[in-house]
Amino acid sequence: MTQDRWTAVDSYLTDLIVQPEPALGAALMASAGAGLPSIAVSAPQGKFLMLLAKMMGASSILEIGTLGGYSTIWMARALPAGGRLVTLENDPKHAAVAASNFERAGLAGMIELRLAPAIETLPRLLAEGRGPFDFIFIDADKPGIPDYFAWSLKLARRGTVIVVDNVVRDGAVIDPASADINVHGVRRFNDVIAAESRVSATTIQTVGSKGYDGFTLALVIADQ
Ligand SMILES: C[S@@+](CC[C@H](N)C(=O)[O-])C[C@H]1O[C@@H](n2cnc3c(N)ncnc32)[C@H](O)[C@@H]1O
Repeated sequence: MTQDRWTAVDSYLTDLIVQPEPALGAALMASAGAGLPSIAVSAPQGKFLMLLAKMMGASSILEIGTLGGYSTIWMARALPAGGRLVTLENDPKHAAVAASNFERAGLAGMIELRLAPAIETLPRLLAEGRGPFDFIFIDADKPGIPDYFAWSLKLARRGTVIVVDNVVRDGAVIDPASADINVHGVRRFNDVIAAESRVSATTIQTVGSKGYDGFTLALVIADQ
């Protein structure tokens, strides 16, 4: 199987089953037009996040890593009236594109975009009493994942679901000699989660338009 085939299958499934709303396509177009990297989740992955959040009845969502807000818009669509989504981004250009995408999607009122390094915003959220969040999506810099996961646990409750993206990295995750700091970030996270008794977790390998990668799904099973 090749990348071309994975991409073609994603297109087929997106058109037939996923059926993204126009605001999502517009967000991707605006992001590309502004020169943002094409590293958002795919449409099937975005809808997967939305369905997960909806299935668990999430009314408060935390996202670490906004980019142009593509995954944010998917997840915000899972929220009930009065629900809130907080998304963290440290690049002002990405944040500006995302804010305009939220406006266009009619979601600006329920999304709070925090512009700062996530490692600074996360303790601030805790100090402001903003937890617990029902659903947390970690998708920023990969060396930061272990810290983001630790803060996510502080901002969680029993029953919170935490999803971490890009944890297989074209299979490089099994290579302890890798020179890639992203691989090392994921491997450190894997060691952390393997020893963490407060969550029950699995990792699913994926292929698609975004290549060969995977995500970790963790359910918080203990009171924080
Ligand atoms: C993979 S992209 C997020 C994609 C987005 N979740 C989506 O699927 O549409 C990662 C984002 O995290 C941001 N980022 C990287 N390091 C960060 C940090 N230390 N704090 C906050 N955001 C960061 C990057 O600027 C980038 O916009």
